[in-house]
Amino acid sequence: MNIPSGLKRFLKKVLIRRKELETFNLYGDSFTVVDISYRLGVRPTIRAIEHHGGKVFSSLIYLDDKYGHPYLRPVQAMIKAWGGKHEYRNALVLGCAGCSLPRFIDEEYPSCAITGVEYAEKMIEIAKKYFLDGIDERFHLIHADAFEYVPTYQADPFDLIIVDLFQGKGLVKSIFTDDFLSHLKGICSEKALVVFNLSTSVTQEEVSQYKTPLKKNFSSAALMQMWNSRFLALFPGKNSDDEVAAFKQKTAKILRL
Ligand SMILES: C[S@@+](CC[C@H](N)C(=O)[O-])C[C@H]1O[C@@H](n2cnc3c(N)ncnc32)[C@H](O)[C@@H]1O
Repeated sequence: MNIPSGLKRFLKKVLIRRKELETFNLYGDSFTVVDISYRLGVRPTIRAIEHHGGKVFSSLIYLDDKYGHPYLRPVQAMIKAWGGKHEYRNALVLGCAGCSLPRFIDEEYPSCAITGVEYAEKMIEIAKKYFLDGIDERFHLIHADAFEYVPTYQADPFDLIIVDLFQGKGLVKSIFTDDFLSHLKGICSEKALVVFNLSTSVTQEEVSQYKTPLKKNFSSAALMQMWNSRFLALFPGKNSDDEVAAFKQKTAKILRL
């Protein structure tokens, strides 16, 4: 049904309540921490970091953990699909903002150690102030640049690595360099899953241009497209087609690189 935009704005105003908690500037953009609740109680209250005029969310959590978290559902589905076959003991999230994915991993895998790396001091302050209530002490949030952290990391290899590096709306494209990819592979366990959130920032053709460094460093790679967003799954170890097929979801288009 086509709802006229005036009516949409009116319904939004009447049904949705926004409580702005804090606004700050970063990467030349204005970010707002906001609680969004629904007057009829149709959905649980969301806490988000929004920017780009409210069109983009850096992080999204439900304030009540029992509903899971709405941030990057396709990535959560990939983590669960792979986690059904392989154990996660040590996970790394590069780019944390409000730490929605660390929260998800914390809740789903209660014996997994989780490290989060975040470059912006302000985001760390925001995460601690508004998003980390109740998260287990297995989660460690480190203030560092992912491109310095990864090459110098020497402890236990990671079974799960999420690369979610954006500065404002822009994807940090150095994630596709041969140097970064080879160091990333170097900190993976043999059966690790690595997922890049590319959002809408990279076209399929652009990802194909990075095929050479991706294939040089990882045994297989699959690009998943859901609606307009793209996610790249990388596997350091040999995987059968069956395992990559585990990522198949009704609405996803999977491409082998
Ligand atoms: C989309 S947000 C991450 C959301 C987060 N993964 C979550 O689960 O809620 C992207 C974050 O990447 C951070 N970032 C950008 N470049 C970085 C770098 N070189 N090293 C570490 N963090 C970086 C930004 O400061 C921003 O907070």
